[in-house]
Amino acid sequence: MVAGMSINEKFQEAVNKQVVAEHQASLIYSQLSYEMDRLSFLGMRDWFRAQADEERTHAQKFADHLLDREARVDLTDIELPSLKIATPLDAFEAALAHEQKVSAMIRDLARVADETGDIDSRSLINFFLAEQIEEESTVNDIIDWIKVVGNDGSGLLRIDAKLGARTSA
Ligand SMILES: [Fe+2]
Repeated sequence: MVAGMSINEKFQEAVNKQVVAEHQASLIYSQLSYEMDRLSFLGMRDWFRAQADEERTHAQKFADHLLDREARVDLTDIELPSLKIATPLDAFEAALAHEQKVSAMIRDLARVADETGDIDSRSLINFFLAEQIEEESTVNDIIDWIKVVGNDGSGLLRIDAKLGARTSA
């Protein structure tokens, strides 16, 4: 097959947008890890750092899909929103907002795959649809814990220690 002919242009653009969004997510998580370091919540810092690494692997999975199908990957559109973070709750709410945006994008990607009859991406997209449910659920749990402890410092430090003990995503 001729290079570049195996993938629909509209679908290719949608996957490329997803590569950009996953790199953006990685940068947002890096920024949040810096904010948590600044506030001396070192467990949360490490949690966000691990999350940033995971988002880079997501970006790579989408990029590999394009590259395996002889399509080009273009990162020119990466931007970082400015985040105002004064508390751990701010940080996790920013994380949730971005995950919700990413989930919506992956649903759109699934729709474009259907519209364009792209069967080859199905397992990749299904993996990420399930992944996003997990991501949102995890961040929602953490937000709930933070709300339960409120301004109680020892409660926040316990959550910090728990998040710092994370060994994998
Ligand atoms: Fe992701």
